[in-house]
Amino acid sequence: MSKTPIIILNYKTYTESTGKNAVQLSRYVQEASEESGVNMAIAPQAVDLYPIINEVDIPVYSQHMDAITPGGHTGSTLPEAIKEAGVNGTLINHSEQRLTLADIDAVVEKTKELELTSVLCTNNVKTSAAAASFNPDYIAIEPPELIGTGIPVSQANPEIVENTVEEIHKINKDVIVLCGAGISTGEDLKAALELGSQGVLLASGIIKADDQKQALLDLVSLI
Ligand code: G3P
Repeated sequence: MSKTPIIILNYKTYTESTGKNAVQLSRYVQEASEESGVNMAIAPQAVDLYPIINEVDIPVYSQHMDAITPGGHTGSTLPEAIKEAGVNGTLINHSEQRLTLADIDAVVEKTKELELTSVLCTNNVKTSAAAASFNPDYIAIEPPELIGTGIPVSQANPEIVENTVEEIHKINKDVIVLCGAGISTGEDLKAALELGSQGVLLASGIIKADDQKQALLDLVSLI
C-alpha cells in the first residue's frame, strides 16, 4: 500500500496525456513527487502502460479492467494482462467507465488475487457506503456533475466528502478515502484533506495546464 496523502493523476484520453505526451507527463509526475516528497501515482490509458512502466518508478495504475477470464473477449482488457504489464493497480467503476455491481465485485476480487491495488470510484454517499463492503484498498468519491468543470468538490460540496468518509468508515475502517472532481489548486487539495479524505484523484486541472509539472508542485504546495 502506498503512503498517504496520495495524488492519483488520471490521464483519461486527453491528447496532452496520450502516447509520447503520456510518457513525458509521467516523467514530470515522478519529478514532482521526488521534489515534493508527496506520493503521486498515475493512471494512463492501457495502450500507454507498458512504455511508461519502463520509464518511471512511481505507482502506475490502469484506468479500467474488465471482469473477464482469459479467452474470447475481443476488445476487452484482461486483468492478467494488466498484471503482466507491470502495473501496480487499477481504477474500477470510474464514472466514465461504469460497471455492474456483479462486475465490481468480480474485479475487486481479481485485484486481490493478482495483488493489485484497487481504487473503486463512486458517485455519492450511498454508493460509497455500498462500495465499502467490497473491501477495496481505496474508494474515490467523485460527483460526476463536477468532473472536468474546474469547480472543486472539496469546496463546492464539502458535505459529500465528509459524509462519505464517515459512512465508509462505519462499514470498513481499512478503506482509504479519496475524493475527486474539479481539483486543481493547493487550496483544493488542502480542503480535501481537511474534510477527512487522504488524497485526490484528478485529471484536467493538471493535464490541461500550460506547465504540468509546476501545476503538480502548486497542487501540493500547501500540505
Ligand atoms: O478521475 C478523475 C476525475 O474524473 C476528475 O476529473 O478533470 O475534474 O480533475 P477532473
